[in-house]
Amino acid sequence: MDNLPVHVSIIMDGNGRWAKERGLEREKGHLEGVGSVRACAQEAVRQGVKYLSLFAFSEENWKRPDSEVGALMALMMKSIREEVGTMMENGIRFLVLGNRARLSDALNSAISGLEKKTASNNTMTMIVFLSYSGQWDIAQAARKMAENGGDSIEPYLVTAGIPDPDLIIRTSGEQRISNYMLWQAAYSEFYFTAKLWPDFREADFRAALNDYSGRDRRYGKVK
Ligand code: IPE
Ligand code: IPE
Ligand code: MG
Repeated sequence: MDNLPVHVSIIMDGNGRWAKERGLEREKGHLEGVGSVRACAQEAVRQGVKYLSLFAFSEENWKRPDSEVGALMALMMKSIREEVGTMMENGIRFLVLGNRARLSDALNSAISGLEKKTASNNTMTMIVFLSYSGQWDIAQAARKMAENGGDSIEPYLVTAGIPDPDLIIRTSGEQRISNYMLWQAAYSEFYFTAKLWPDFREADFRAALNDYSGRDRRYGKVK
């Protein structure tokens, strides 16, 4: 594809509504959403995208009922166990970014294990944002900058070394950033779709890339 984004990021929204429409528990929507993660990751690799990042759980999402938070964390744990083979086969490097201190020791060690195992894979980097918010990221970066010096915030953000997202996709019809990569999204292109996350699959991902390929990015300059 022409004019391929280097970094595609997805705000995966609409799992609860997907389940509700079917008279199911919200958790079933999250479970179905894992299938969309798998589909988009495969399509991203196929198209040659170098970075795919996914907003999976925000700092604000901790305010959901304990049962839902527990189900989401358990699903994360299960996915880490089950997807390791696919990641190795596809050359995917796996990273989790966010406020890792809020995650359980068991989840943190499973994440670190997968990060280590996939560290030298270089076809695509898949980043899962967990317990992440843009304001939290900027605040922690500012604190580190004050301690260590320097006049640039970028090296202290959790995304240091990762190119800013070229394209941010949000599913479920909401047109907001919900405290995602506030700093990094300064010049991102946005793609909104009414499709609920569990329904967003390969062809939808390709449609978003196709839409992006026609965008004219000017970065404030005159072309
Ligand atoms: C996205 O789906 C998953 C997370 C935010 C964890 P939601 O759970 O927000 O689904 P809706 O927006 O209620 O439909
Ligand atoms: C955004 O979805 C966060 C994630 C997709 C992880 P939310 O469902 O939490 O966002 P709001 O509440 O609709 O803004
Ligand atoms: Mg939502």
